[in-house]
Amino acid sequence: MKINFLSKVPAASKLLAVVIAEGADLPTAAAALDKSSAGRLTQAVKSARFTGKREQVLEIIAPNRGVDRCILVGAGPTSGLNVRELELTGGQLAGVLMAAKVPTASVEIALGDSKAVAAEVAAAAIASGMALRNYQFNIYKTKKPETKPLAEVHIATSRHMAANGLFASAHAVVEGVHLARNLVNEPANILHPVEFANRAKALSKAGVKIEILTPAQMKKLGMGALLGVAQGSPFEPRLVVMRWDGGKKGDRPIAFVGKGVTFDTGGVSIKPAAGMEDMKGDMGGAACVTGLMLALAKRQAKCNVIGAVGLVENAIDGAAQRPGDIVKSMSGQTIAVLNTDAEGRLILADVLWYVQDRFKPKFMVNLATLTGAILVALGKEHAGLFSNNDELSTRISAAGLETGEKVWRMPLTPAYDKMIDSDIADMKNIGGRFAGSITAAQFLQRFVNKVPWAHLDVAGTAMDAEKSAINQSWGSGWGVRLLNKMVADHYEK
Ligand code: BES
Ligand code: MN
Ligand code: ZN
Repeated sequence: MKINFLSKVPAASKLLAVVIAEGADLPTAAAALDKSSAGRLTQAVKSARFTGKREQVLEIIAPNRGVDRCILVGAGPTSGLNVRELELTGGQLAGVLMAAKVPTASVEIALGDSKAVAAEVAAAAIASGMALRNYQFNIYKTKKPETKPLAEVHIATSRHMAANGLFASAHAVVEGVHLARNLVNEPANILHPVEFANRAKALSKAGVKIEILTPAQMKKLGMGALLGVAQGSPFEPRLVVMRWDGGKKGDRPIAFVGKGVTFDTGGVSIKPAAGMEDMKGDMGGAACVTGLMLALAKRQAKCNVIGAVGLVENAIDGAAQRPGDIVKSMSGQTIAVLNTDAEGRLILADVLWYVQDRFKPKFMVNLATLTGAILVALGKEHAGLFSNNDELSTRISAAGLETGEKVWRMPLTPAYDKMIDSDIADMKNIGGRFAGSITAAQFLQRFVNKVPWAHLDVAGTAMDAEKSAINQSWGSGWGVRLLNKMVADHYEK
């Protein structure tokens, strides 16, 4: 979608949308339309009892000869405005416009005398919410649905130059979110590990350096945990390292790591049939890391960043690993694989170790659709946050509140850690019936070598997430906005 910021909406606008706060006066074009239509707008506002409350929408059809529709969307009270709320309002507006089946619209903004949000910030936030919502995953439909994404939107604001500058960065993030959604939505016969690696390779156009490790290279590095998972699939695994060098030369990088299980059958410890199709989304962590790298590159983030994703299919054939097998990880630690369905941690064990060993990052954040148990604990409201570092944890939590991609910190303690000790190997890959998300996190912690680290369990948020004003897609792209914000607030100078 193309977004143009202008000082006023084009004269010939057939569809005029107004984002309006409670008690605010109609803005220029809407006021003129009201006048030319003998007060149609004010009358409609009154008879519909439209007050500008958040989520209120009023559609006035054919207010005069030249205009097809005027749509008012409530932005809530002026005093309560912030970027997050305005993004949601923008998202809602885009939804209404798509439902109206119009390809383009003009938008005016009337927020009263808001001290909290500058005009350009408000305009960019509304635009960004619209762009986030303006997404469909249609490529496998041969008959395209009637509702289509918006093609072009004009937004009027007194500070159109500044808004344009702000939105350039916001748009980079939207592109990252949409990429992550696409990757999660793709079926597993198309998006297998090698294909995922190909999609990541395309980020080189945005200036991201890409390295792709083959099974032979991983074998040489001793990645027995990751390779054990891959062993039952006809698709070869890949480890993709993405690198964005936007910071000072020689500055230690920050690192993001993603679980990229392109399909999780459970392996020999096979999953039940019902709902197994959702396991095409078991690469949601890797999708987020890839989308984040695209966003950071496209907005030329001033920091050095590593994005590493372990891409494997957890499938089942005669060569698949068995429950009870013992594998040796790159770290040298041995693992008894008591349940082949606890595969995400096996993959991350080798990728986390590899990343800290090779890049000596300032911190590592990994994302993984790791456990069903996190859905039991937190539902879809929060992702689980586990960390060995309070500062990193606080920063991620704060970015969560600002972006609406919320996290909730869970405990890590030696008592939980003990639950994965094994009497035959250094550890086992499951901890028993209770505290499943925590024992999974304890397992990961054994492979971070004391580097400041956070693990986000996104099983409840990366796929089949709660629909919202800015997202209606099954693959949500969750985490791109969160981590982009965390990076922007603390790691760019
Ligand atoms: N990919 C699943 C976790 C998952 C479940 C993600 C539901 C999204 C929705 C993971 O690999 C898994 O199977 N975990 C097991 C761990 C168990 C065997 C210890 C689980 O959660 O049941
Ligand atoms: Mn599994
Ligand atoms: Zn899995």
